[in-house]
Amino acid sequence: GESLRRLAAARGILLGSAADDTGLRNEPGYRHDLGSQFAALTPENAMKWDAVEPKRGKLQWGGADRAVDFAQQHGLKVRGHTLVWYSQLPGWLSSGGFDAPTLRRLMTAHIAKEMGRYKGRIRTWDVVNEAMADQSGLRKGLWLDTLGPSYIAEAFAAARKADPGARLAINEIGADGVNAKSDTYLKVVQELKRRGLVDEVGFQAHFNLKGVPPSMAANLKRFADLGVDIAITEADVSVKDPGTPAQLTAQAKVYADIVRVCRSVPRCKAITVWGFTDRHSWIPDSSPGFGSATLLDDQLRPKPAFTAFQDAL
Ligand code: XIL
Repeated sequence: GESLRRLAAARGILLGSAADDTGLRNEPGYRHDLGSQFAALTPENAMKWDAVEPKRGKLQWGGADRAVDFAQQHGLKVRGHTLVWYSQLPGWLSSGGFDAPTLRRLMTAHIAKEMGRYKGRIRTWDVVNEAMADQSGLRKGLWLDTLGPSYIAEAFAAARKADPGARLAINEIGADGVNAKSDTYLKVVQELKRRGLVDEVGFQAHFNLKGVPPSMAANLKRFADLGVDIAITEADVSVKDPGTPAQLTAQAKVYADIVRVCRSVPRCKAITVWGFTDRHSWIPDSSPGFGSATLLDDQLRPKPAFTAFQDAL
């Protein structure tokens, strides 16, 4: 059949997947499907701070370069992920005890270095990731605790400077429907947009068989009304192992609903799945006992979700 990327493109949707470095390095089948079914990739871990600077000042771009080079060779766009996040920080940084001025300098220098290296080659950057707390306000962690709430706008200002041609995104988990977290998110985005610092708002869409939150379309619309583009950035649908046929059918419906939500919001212009094969998915690691969260099985064979995704596009 027609590739997912072409079906999505016909709807004005840029379709991407997270890219796993092991797959990119060693697996021809993985590379083939990523390069032919998707129009964009997000390096799953290779651009995170702990990956690029495990020791202070010793920059390691191997995995990040591999992803960007692969994308360029196969005509895929890249979503850079991610510059400022509370997680996957190198130990020297998270337990360094830096004071605010020093930490601020480290943050802006990191943004300048990483964005500078790939200037002109990355379409969109997830500048700040998962900065909202679940209940209300901003998430506690190194950045908020040391720099205060202004770190978000400071990171975006540094990103604008580092690559003025890149689209700048903020990205969030668990803010897919209308809830306390997305209420906070909306206020943060509104302020960033007022200052011309954000272009796109990401919703991760890590789901399970409970399905898409009923208020998701309404939620995305209230963000779009601020004048920003919308992206679904990390879609997956976890299933308890081993997935029964009935569960895989239910999963297929959730994937189709994700596509339908995006299609119902005119400014929703990108969908990224967080892995396209059960061979390389974070779900079994993060939720033991669960897996089967992606479109293709671990032998790269299409699951019902793949067909449903096609049909919904
Ligand atoms: C996950 C990766 O998929 C895993 O391989 C890694 O061990 C942990 O991080 N939200 C994000 C992603 O923004 O960066 C996370 O990726 C999943 C949740």
